[in-house]
Amino acid sequence: MKVLITLLLSLTLQAAMASHADDGRGLFQQNCAGCHGENGDGGVGVPLNLPAFQASVDDHYLRQTIRLGRPGRVMPGFPSLSDAQIDQLIAYIRGWTGKPAPKFPRDPVQGDPARGGQLFAQHCASCHGEDARGGHGTGVTMSRKRDLPILAPALNNSGFLAAASDALILNTIKHGRSGTPMPAFGQAGLNEQAMKDITAWLRSLEKSIQPRTPPEHVEPVIVVEADDTYENTIQAIKDTIIGNNFRFIREQKLEQGFFPDDQVSQKETILYFCNFNFLYDAMNVDPRVGMFLPCRITVVERDGKVQVMAINPKAMSILFNNDELDKACDTMGQIYRDLIEEATL
Ligand code: HEC
Ligand code: HEC
Repeated sequence: MKVLITLLLSLTLQAAMASHADDGRGLFQQNCAGCHGENGDGGVGVPLNLPAFQASVDDHYLRQTIRLGRPGRVMPGFPSLSDAQIDQLIAYIRGWTGKPAPKFPRDPVQGDPARGGQLFAQHCASCHGEDARGGHGTGVTMSRKRDLPILAPALNNSGFLAAASDALILNTIKHGRSGTPMPAFGQAGLNEQAMKDITAWLRSLEKSIQPRTPPEHVEPVIVVEADDTYENTIQAIKDTIIGNNFRFIREQKLEQGFFPDDQVSQKETILYFCNFNFLYDAMNVDPRVGMFLPCRITVVERDGKVQVMAINPKAMSILFNNDELDKACDTMGQIYRDLIEEATL
């Protein structure tokens, strides 16, 4: 339990501290650098310091993107930052290129959305995904350099569509983002009307976006009572872990390191285990799963009762903003339930 509390506490503290830096640089370091890189050169998040990026987005887009985030994608919203703090962030980001922000008209672009949808499937879906749902995962895998902006953003996203005007979208399609995989379609065979049709189709997606609703009730901890003794239960869990093709890593007394050795309770043990395929897949979805991997199951005996427990990964993942991570954590939770059930039968 202490582990969960420590973890939750440090997350909450991070969130609370995040709003205290009072200049653009400090705000960026605390809230953004972890994903977008210390100098905005990219990481889990796309690079923000590229001249081509900055020339393609107005300040309204930056402001709305920071405010709203990209619901269900990795990019969080920052509703608690004040307008003044967001202005400081934007000034800091613009400082990397020193160029003035472009301005885009707010009028809608006229185009044929049906034709745009077909063109999108032909020219864009290979990167931006079917229905413009975005590239898969974070783009960060263990085999690629962290600063490579491989992942194509979701364009069917309420945060993106609220931030981007039609003119901004059209301009991005036309000129691309030099320095990233996003091609300049003005030079790659699409005429003005085709690009307007695609823009009109992207805009039309706004109507069908479902608001992201967090799950109603998630049990923070999976707890099962075991009928067997403390020692036998630990052995049964180890056997089940190995029997299910997980690698057993180690066991440790829960309080080890928190108290002097002679005061550490001998009746509280954490078992660490892993399955490297799962680890790889999960890290690919979101490197933050590293916070709750490797898998761990805790066995405690209190008042003669033996309990087997695991932190429900879903309770952790709802703190983040990633539909794919939610799914991976559902899988992880199910793995825990199955293992614990099998071991305590
Ligand atoms: C947890 C990681 C994470 C954090 C923290 C984060 N971002 Fe992002 N950000 C992303 C990702 C990933 C994307 C791409 C969205 C997508 O894939 O759909 C993104 C997109 C953006 C975009 C749009 C870029 C574009 O190409 O149009 C801007 C602007 C942005 N972030 C600014 C910020 C700022 C400013 C902060 C801090 C206040 C911040 N982000 C914090 C991950 C993050
Ligand atoms: C080869 C892959 C690839 C193709 C093909 C591609 N894109 Fe992109 N696109 C990207 C990447 C990667 C980014 C993020 C660029 C960055 O880091 O600033 C992007 C960014 C964008 C953006 C800005 C959104 C944001 O949040 O940054 C829009 C709009 C966009 N693309 C539209 C399109 C359209 C429309 C097409 C088809 C006509 C298309 N793209 C084809 C890879 C691609």
